[in-house]
Amino acid sequence: MKRVITYGTFDVLHYGHVNLLKRAKELGDYLIVALSSDEFNIIKNKKSYYTYEQRKIILDSCRYVDLIIPENNWEQKETDIKKYKINTFVMGDDWQGKFDFLKKYCEVIYLPRTPDICSTDVKIHLLQENKKLLE
Ligand code: CTP
Repeated sequence: MKRVITYGTFDVLHYGHVNLLKRAKELGDYLIVALSSDEFNIIKNKKSYYTYEQRKIILDSCRYVDLIIPENNWEQKETDIKKYKINTFVMGDDWQGKFDFLKKYCEVIYLPRTPDICSTDVKIHLLQENKKLLE
């Protein structure tokens, strides 16, 4: 059984996320997503629209995801890799090179991001559209 892990906030789940999760799952048999907690998002200077529990419910419905664990800090990756016997660590290529130090524990793969979509843009776009509706 080849076990894959990835990390992220996955707010307002969009097709870029799903593309990433699909390709991550195809790299093995079992995909774990370490989902950033609301407290960790503050440390990352991110504010999600959905809470951790809401993001977890949505992510849990994705057929490619086998297990969701909380991501609480930057340091936990090494312990997660050992604890869950991870073979492959996956991130989008916006993180290219940033986690190469994990190569001593497992394979590290950066997948190309899906162009022209991110949670921030979805939220901004919805806000603009709502403003127009109210005008
Ligand atoms: N991702 C991707 N393609 C996109 C957007 C995200 O492959 N168009 C990947 C990221 O590279 C990361 C994972 O999805 O590995 C979770 O990313 P996250 O930061 O939660 O999503 P973004 O949409 O980039 O969110 P934000 O706008 O808040 O930065």
